[in-house]
Amino acid sequence: MKILIATEKPFATEAVKGIKEVIANSGNEAIILEKGTKSDLIKAIIDIDGLIVRSDIVDKEVLDAAKQLKVIVRAGAGYDNIDLSTATEKGICVMNTPGQNSNAVAELVFGMLVMMIRNQFDGTSGIELKGKNLGIHAYGQVGRNVARIAKGFGMNVSALDPFVKDEILIAEGITPLHSVEELYTKNQFVSLHIPATPATKKSVTKEVITLLPKKGILINTARKEIIDEEGLIEALKERTDIKYISDIKPESADAILAEAPGRVFFTPKKMGAQTAEANINAGIAAAHQVVDNLKDGWNKFQVNK
Ligand code: 3PG
Repeated sequence: MKILIATEKPFATEAVKGIKEVIANSGNEAIILEKGTKSDLIKAIIDIDGLIVRSDIVDKEVLDAAKQLKVIVRAGAGYDNIDLSTATEKGICVMNTPGQNSNAVAELVFGMLVMMIRNQFDGTSGIELKGKNLGIHAYGQVGRNVARIAKGFGMNVSALDPFVKDEILIAEGITPLHSVEELYTKNQFVSLHIPATPATKKSVTKEVITLLPKKGILINTARKEIIDEEGLIEALKERTDIKYISDIKPESADAILAEAPGRVFFTPKKMGAQTAEANINAGIAAAHQVVDNLKDGWNKFQVNK
């Protein structure tokens, strides 16, 4: 059967090699489409049985073009790029690869945060992370890695996650939080790890951002959709001590940069999971998942059950 690996943002070479090996060893055929557009994907998907993507958009138009697709694996965590209801209607199994790229994302949180608290290395005196408060919004795979690294820096870590019991957080040396207000008022640094869902979209508003203590920094390695960008601009205007760091360029990046020069930083392309290790882990896991699904319906990480 044919398995298409369609990645607008290509995996590291070693990862592609590993993916091809897994697919070849299973007796299936791997087809690689890198840096392609949506129309390239639509053309390539027609006779494909299994699909591996990253943040690539797999909407109804793409799914309608696929004539024999049985399984999609999102090599990564967030699957907001895939039209789950259409996939379900068509009987296509959609899976993600939880945890496989989370350390890479967590490390980038601190790469960007250190850069920002050292004033983007402009030679002026910055501050340190040790002894500072870090609040984590959502204690999933990435949030847990962020907490682990933060403890290494000597930070005081707290987390807000209604799906995780207080006892678990306490056992891991994390202070449990129970409201967004608490998260933003108690922490100089807040790191966002919530998915983009109808409930979380635009949930990070001016009202919550301006609750940050003096010299607060908001770090977003999750999704741009969770930020109310108008509210962010207003917050940066009202609170000239606040900074915003994001691994996802906002829609209104130019307006945000104009409002707060030197106080905001965006990676040019989403870089969180862009390491050889994360690509190998997520890519090869995805290859195994597709192959196993095509073989016997394996669906442990199905997200459209
Ligand atoms: C994820 O959801 O796994 C991360 O946001 C990484 O996405 P990417 O594979 O598009 O870099």
